[in-house]
Amino acid sequence: MKNKFHWYDGLFYDKMIAPNQDGTFAIMREMMKPNSSVIDIGTGTGRFVFQATNKFRKIVGVDLSSRNINFANSQLEKSNFKNISFLHANATEIKSHFPEKFDYSTISYVIHEMPYEMRLTVLKAMSEISNTIIIGDYFAPQPKNKRGISNRIAEFLAGTDHFNNYRNFTKHNGIYGLVETLGMLIVQEKIGVHGTSHIVRINKKID
Ligand SMILES: C[S@@+](CC[C@H](N)C(=O)[O-])C[C@H]1O[C@@H](n2cnc3c(N)ncnc32)[C@H](O)[C@@H]1O
Repeated sequence: MKNKFHWYDGLFYDKMIAPNQDGTFAIMREMMKPNSSVIDIGTGTGRFVFQATNKFRKIVGVDLSSRNINFANSQLEKSNFKNISFLHANATEIKSHFPEKFDYSTISYVIHEMPYEMRLTVLKAMSEISNTIIIGDYFAPQPKNKRGISNRIAEFLAGTDHFNNYRNFTKHNGIYGLVETLGMLIVQEKIGVHGTSHIVRINKKID
């Protein structure tokens, strides 16, 4: 796959959707040591990257949506940040783009929209290019309250493929199922501000 397109990518995502993730982004930042190097997979319009620029030595944001990456780069051009960059690429191929290792790789609200096999491939690739992985995503299943129901509606409105992948993510027990299948270990977990998401820090495959 060379590009990904959602009707809401770009300006709409940046202004209307990404700000809802700020609570998760703050928890993710707290889980990582200052002055580290970080790669953010499925960065969207780069909101997490821009917010983290003062804490880390180097941050790279990668996304398969050219509209999101173009938007992130246009924001970057207007700024003075020297330690961040963005790349339009498929997360399945990150190893070929980055021969160096990062201290952390992060992925927020991305794996629930990927097909099952891609989820596994991307997590394996992240484990190969970084020492520690941080994942933020929905609890599976979502709680049956107002927030949980509105998250489900948002996933439905994102399109048929997106919603089918979200349902598959739920069926396979979300982050817990993924981590277990890959033989990885959760070493820290925090619940997101609305109680509908969680953020985990995981260690790589146990040999
Ligand atoms: C819901 S957005 C999350 C953006 C951001 N991480 C956040 O928390 O606001 C999911 C993003 O993952 C990206 N994405 C999905 N599949 C991808 C893939 N295979 N490689 C890279 N990015 C991908 C989409 O283009 C989209 O920008």
